[in-house]
Amino acid sequence: MPHWLPPYPLCSASQKESFAYESTVKRWPIILTGVVDEIARINHELAHSTDEKEQQKVEEGKKLINQIGELVYEMRHDRELKPLEGSALPNDLDLYNSELAALAEKGQNRWFSAPWLFAECYLYRRLHLLISSPSTPRWHLFDPFQSQKVSTWRSSASGAAALAKSLQSLHSAGPVQPKDKEDVKAWEKLRIDFLAIAEACLWGNATDLSLLTSLSHDEIKTLQSVERGQAFLLKNDFQKVWEHVKGLKEARVDLVLDNSGFELFTDLVLADWLVSLSPSLVKEVVIHPKLVPWFVSDVQPHDFVFLLSSLSDPSFFPTSGEEGLSTDDREALNALAKRWRQYVDEGKFRLSVPEELKMGEKGGEIAEFWTAPSSFCDLPVVAPQLLSDLQKSSLVIFKGDLNYRKLVSDAWWPTATAFSDALGPLAGKFPILSLRTCKADTVVGLDEGVEERVQKEDEAWRRNGKYAVVSFCPKDASA
Ligand code: F6P
Ligand code: MG
Repeated sequence: MPHWLPPYPLCSASQKESFAYESTVKRWPIILTGVVDEIARINHELAHSTDEKEQQKVEEGKKLINQIGELVYEMRHDRELKPLEGSALPNDLDLYNSELAALAEKGQNRWFSAPWLFAECYLYRRLHLLISSPSTPRWHLFDPFQSQKVSTWRSSASGAAALAKSLQSLHSAGPVQPKDKEDVKAWEKLRIDFLAIAEACLWGNATDLSLLTSLSHDEIKTLQSVERGQAFLLKNDFQKVWEHVKGLKEARVDLVLDNSGFELFTDLVLADWLVSLSPSLVKEVVIHPKLVPWFVSDVQPHDFVFLLSSLSDPSFFPTSGEEGLSTDDREALNALAKRWRQYVDEGKFRLSVPEELKMGEKGGEIAEFWTAPSSFCDLPVVAPQLLSDLQKSSLVIFKGDLNYRKLVSDAWWPTATAFSDALGPLAGKFPILSLRTCKADTVVGLDEGVEERVQKEDEAWRRNGKYAVVSFCPKDASA
């Protein structure tokens, strides 16, 4: 049960004009149908195999297809959300089921009446329970979104290579070392580099495969690559963050990841700059993935490992066509691959769970919390161990839309609400930076008049990924 609730209604599909409604009616059934297609494709490939195990896999695949079909049916007919059952990890079913029981008491335990955030987490959790059920053992390591994640990453080759070359040119010039606090020129160079790289990391979040149901591949690529001016940044705390970062000394920074592929790549570019090109400000970056298939494109440990190996795999990125890479591009990507592997081995980049952790294996509270239904205002109560771990960090960067929704409890806040107010009891516990392109209705922290301006400019501004908010909340001295 939530321990803290915002003083405004939570987003829910019961509101017909909301993105929650559109998601429930349109996007989720499309996403689930895509999973069915993926299973059918694998089954088709195995259909003529004489191997007994593969035949069993086909039978289990058919079972899964039926069960996912039932899930779509329940959703379309606004059935009650069934309590979650199963023994597969993560160990969070009590959290889901107690919240579900509380919602049932309020008559909000159906697909359209439940808070959107809860229903959406429930959907991905339920999907994983089907995949990990004892009746489908040959599918336990199946990531239904894997092939989509890989192909979108492959088609991001040119954007990734351009960024890799920029980063490599900073490496060739070597770290900037201000002589002292008064070395204005050196600090200004660092500020400009930090802002450019943090901005690339922000817009990397425009890549989100769950949006592919409403945008084309090309539209998403345009969102990633368009040089955006300040007008698209509806809240810009970058300067405040820089003031914070430049005061750090051999610090730990945490990255609560969002999406695989291009976004993860931009995250690692930022991590690289922090540990190697800033003057001893940061010594390690702790990287937090998810443990189950989540909101289509979110990073799991295997996606992280795959991205590192893909960078130096000569057969991965195209050699010709629009995304074809040149020798220079490949050299830059290879250099990154080598350095990032070394950073992982040295612990400068540290995944919060072992990189070889498989789906369904024990990840512990620190990793499991990210796929619980809870908003982050409840983190201190629900995940005290994670709280004390994050309190060792000098900056926790939350990437993306879903993390933002969880930070602000996915409520219909007035847009002028201070970010720190919307964080509820999490405010001040550790320094928080959220880098989010707007892909859902909730938004806070806007100055007077911004909502009115942008509403006239683009009616879909809250959800189409063209706008972004950069929000920073420092740690309270007393925390
Ligand atoms: O399904 C809705 C949603 O949560 C949106 O908020 C957003 O479009 C997407 O899924 C997740 O976005 P992100 O990958 O940025 O968290
Ligand atoms: Mg995501």
